[in-house]
Amino acid sequence: MSGYLYQSTSHYFGQIASGAESCGEAELKELGATHVKPGYLGFYFCADQRTIYNIVYRSRIFSRILAPLLAFDCHSDKYLYKTAQQIDWTDFLTLTKTFAIASNVADSNIRNSQYAGQILKDAIVDQFREKTGQRPNVDTRFPDLLLNLYIHKNKARISVDLGGGSLHKRGYRTESVEAPMQETLAATIIRLSGWSGERPLYDPFCGSGTLLCEAFMKAGNIPAAYLRPKFGFLRLPDFDAAVWNQVKTKANNETIDVPDELIKGSDIGADAIKAVRANRNELPEIGTIKVRRTDFRELEGFENTVIVTNPPYGIRLGNTAEVAGLLKDFGDFLKQKCTGSTAFVYFGDKTLAKKLGLKPEWKHPLRAGGLDGMLCKYELY
Ligand SMILES: C[S@@+](CC[C@H](N)C(=O)[O-])C[C@H]1O[C@@H](n2cnc3c(N)ncnc32)[C@H](O)[C@@H]1O
Repeated sequence: MSGYLYQSTSHYFGQIASGAESCGEAELKELGATHVKPGYLGFYFCADQRTIYNIVYRSRIFSRILAPLLAFDCHSDKYLYKTAQQIDWTDFLTLTKTFAIASNVADSNIRNSQYAGQILKDAIVDQFREKTGQRPNVDTRFPDLLLNLYIHKNKARISVDLGGGSLHKRGYRTESVEAPMQETLAATIIRLSGWSGERPLYDPFCGSGTLLCEAFMKAGNIPAAYLRPKFGFLRLPDFDAAVWNQVKTKANNETIDVPDELIKGSDIGADAIKAVRANRNELPEIGTIKVRRTDFRELEGFENTVIVTNPPYGIRLGNTAEVAGLLKDFGDFLKQKCTGSTAFVYFGDKTLAKKLGLKPEWKHPLRAGGLDGMLCKYELY
């Protein structure tokens, strides 16, 4: 086969968490995508080669960017196998490279996602065996090529995952404590807060520092995939190393210093503070994140600060009555000691929002990483 779907149409698909759509759409356009249209948990868009490398390297909000190879009606496993064999898999793989398949099937004659993935795997492996007598290996953890098979209402699409895995794995989180949030969720919260470095930002329940690290990356203009060791687009047949190096070098040269005292946080756990320091050290040396160990009740309070935080929420962190008491105290702290500041509080369990005892200016549901949470904005007069 010559001319894969992404080549003939310049069409791609970006996957996003539920609730992050408005941020994702705006980000895609900023990064140069055109013809951005909503789909199920994501957006279809057009991009040229330089732009798609740029999107994969810089997007903070999207969890996956997919390049479709083939789209077809698919009513049976036999047809899936036969159609998948129309792709010349040596365009993407050699015997020394590994691959894996993420599959998702809904409302279709083929009912089982894992089974559909198995059929696609067999088609690839059998094609190699016929041609060479040997087959490339599957590696589900760190594959060189990650394929995405999506079948919905008997319409199938086989795509290459251009990040080579979920983009929330930025690579700075070498240590974590209980209940860390996904990096893409933290980036979405920072973006929804509208913070862009003009006021100090503080997280009083910082845990392993995901919100602080994402704020640091944003303030320093550090590309989201700066630490990513490999990318799925390296396996595309038309991969252009010169263009990719230009995109990467330009983005890396655009980092800026982060002022001292701009991004700070605290947590009651010593492990959390150690984790933030370790994670911060993975990021470029363009500024600091100051953290200390303390109960939020011991903090003096804040003036003219953007407080962005994710307090404990019971399900993973202890019993709900205890969490309700803590949230009431936190609400009092915000009311009494933070006048002139703005708080953005992400509740991992959205039923807990009312326990703060403050009236939010707005509420924004956000789902990610198994959490069905809510971000609330409080203007503290
Ligand atoms: C949901 S976690 C935050 C996770 C964080 N967003 C991350 O990505 O790692 C809540 C944090 O609140 C901390 N915490 C619980 N009670 C506290 C208190 N009274 N004062 C300060 N921190 C507290 C816990 O140690 C925990 O790290």
